Amino acid sequence: MTFRFGPRPTAGAAIVLALGAALLPGPLPATATGTDRQAADAGRPSAGSAGVGDPLFPKAGNGGYRVGHYDLRLTYAPQRRMLRARATITARTTQALSSFHLDLYGLTVDRVVVAGDPARWERRGQELVVRPARPLAADAAFTIRVRYHGAPRTYIDPDGSLDGWSYTDDGAVVAAEPVGAMTVFPANNHPSDKARFDVAIRVPDNLKAVSNGVLTGRRTSHGWTTWRWHEPDQMATHLMTATIGRFRMLRDRGPGGLPIWSFIDPRTSGARAIAHRIPAVLRRLERWYGDYPFVSSGVIVDRSRLGYALEVQTRPLFDGTPDLSTLVHELAHQWYGNAVSPRTWQHIWLNEGFATYTEWLWAARRHPGAAQSRFDRLYREPAGSSLWSPPPADPGRAANLFGRPVYDRGAMALHALRTQVGLATFLQAGRRWAQVHAGGSARTSQLRTLAERVSGEPLGRLFADWLWRDGRPDGY
Ligand code: TRP
Ligand code: ZN
Repeated sequence: MTFRFGPRPTAGAAIVLALGAALLPGPLPATATGTDRQAADAGRPSAGSAGVGDPLFPKAGNGGYRVGHYDLRLTYAPQRRMLRARATITARTTQALSSFHLDLYGLTVDRVVVAGDPARWERRGQELVVRPARPLAADAAFTIRVRYHGAPRTYIDPDGSLDGWSYTDDGAVVAAEPVGAMTVFPANNHPSDKARFDVAIRVPDNLKAVSNGVLTGRRTSHGWTTWRWHEPDQMATHLMTATIGRFRMLRDRGPGGLPIWSFIDPRTSGARAIAHRIPAVLRRLERWYGDYPFVSSGVIVDRSRLGYALEVQTRPLFDGTPDLSTLVHELAHQWYGNAVSPRTWQHIWLNEGFATYTEWLWAARRHPGAAQSRFDRLYREPAGSSLWSPPPADPGRAANLFGRPVYDRGAMALHALRTQVGLATFLQAGRRWAQVHAGGSARTSQLRTLAERVSGEPLGRLFADWLWRDGRPDGY
């Protein structure tokens, strides 16, 4: 085990190693040991854990601190595939820390500074373990600065999909759900710890660089342009993007003068027309779900091999021109998934069920009864269909995260709820959910409590049947 201090363990290596041995008798375990926990109980500094305890992604996120803000400065040279970056993370300890983890996949760390002092660090798979020069007190603000570089590596999810940074023929796309943010920046990479973001991306001036929130500046010098993006609202790390390529930039205005910036690969067709639908879609969603939760909107339509769309916060990302229903789905996620994020990945149906059900409601504007007929068609699927297992709120394995139960049975669960309480009450509960939990993260049991309060009806049976129990629910 070697904690590194500075760029490489050269002259001071022996001292560093000796110090490491003195401070760390034997290998530092990946999670807190009994003695660590006793130390934490006593308020003595101990090691932060390597994960937040997500049942599907045990290494995602970290213990011992919470992040308030990420300030990312990225420079990307596409022809050399070289990213050079600095991350400044403002955080707060939740325990006294002798060391803590960040999530970082691939890339080379050059320097880590904690609370103004150079820190030692160690790479352990996707964990960047940092040992500050001095322990950090409990419940104290501190900053972490990480300088790093390299050719980012795409993370392959348990279901085989591309996660995080992916190369395109003219740059890169970043689609980071569920854990790909760690391919771009060191993070407390879990939706239970949301933060505000400022992202500056420097690219050759024939390219554009797109991130979240509002574009606050664009400066060109010596053939390079820096794009500055500001996201003032809480954002889960998986909703961050840093997408780079040749784009046409479209400006528009949405409800209440909302600024809309869209970025369209000029080789796609029909994408401008889709981008022009954003204001009308947002107006409709606002009527259903309440005020749009963020400061800006838009879409990114890039040519990529992703094979899926992502509800990137404020600016959904598509791997080609989407149809209107897919646009509606990704915009609905701004309320469900983005403003309110899942407390753990187990609860992802809260994102996908609502976004899918919004597609049903959208279809029903033209074809009354569309939601019911979609429900009916699905309900007729045989008991052995992949639709019925595992249950949406208990997907069991990470490979099931984006399965049919999460999307389609999740939407059916909401339709069953709507049928029981009525559309007006259902939408009232939806609005309340998006409002009460905005900026945070929530779990399935909290939706039940809220829906029971809003409707005045007991919903335990309905939630159990549709969300928790394996197999096709009887009698609906
Ligand atoms: N959350 C995305 C959506 O439904 C889909 C998605 C993200 C996805 N990552 C994925 C689907 C990986 C399959 C595999 O809008
Ligand atoms: Zn979705």
